[in-house]
Amino acid sequence: LKETEIIRDKMIEYYQGDPQRIQHFIKVEAFASMIAEKENIDAHTATIISILGYIHDIGIKIAEKEYGSSDGKLQEKLGKEPSYNLTLECGFSKEIAQRVSYVVSHHHTYKNIDGLDYQILVEADIIVNIYEDNISKDILPNVIKTIFKTKSGIHLLQQIYN
Ligand SMILES: [Fe+2]
Repeated sequence: LKETEIIRDKMIEYYQGDPQRIQHFIKVEAFASMIAEKENIDAHTATIISILGYIHDIGIKIAEKEYGSSDGKLQEKLGKEPSYNLTLECGFSKEIAQRVSYVVSHHHTYKNIDGLDYQILVEADIIVNIYEDNISKDILPNVIKTIFKTKSGIHLLQQIYN
């Protein structure tokens, strides 16, 4: 198994019995890696993007279980430490674990997106959430204008929903 596949399997184990969550992160990772590939992202950043796809919602379970809330900000906060620990545990460097936990703890925040890893995770998450949360297509122009940046992300979004 590749190290990213270890993360994937650990997350499936973590969300065992919760098909919605499992299918969510499998899809987010697939779209994120697809965008990364089309954007010719370097291998190091592409690895971080793959990890982020799998791991980004690690905080939801704790938020729902211990706080009875799925509030986005709370999820960010509660995902910070577990995402750092799991990334290290699966054999990645401290530098990668730090970046992963930084993005996880900001991934519902669309201001100050400071890297293509963060940007591409946000785009893939939105692509999946529009479908899963039944969000109106009316928001597409605004989402493209205010959040999406990569050519491939915009193209994919339009292909899926237009
Ligand atoms: Fe998500």
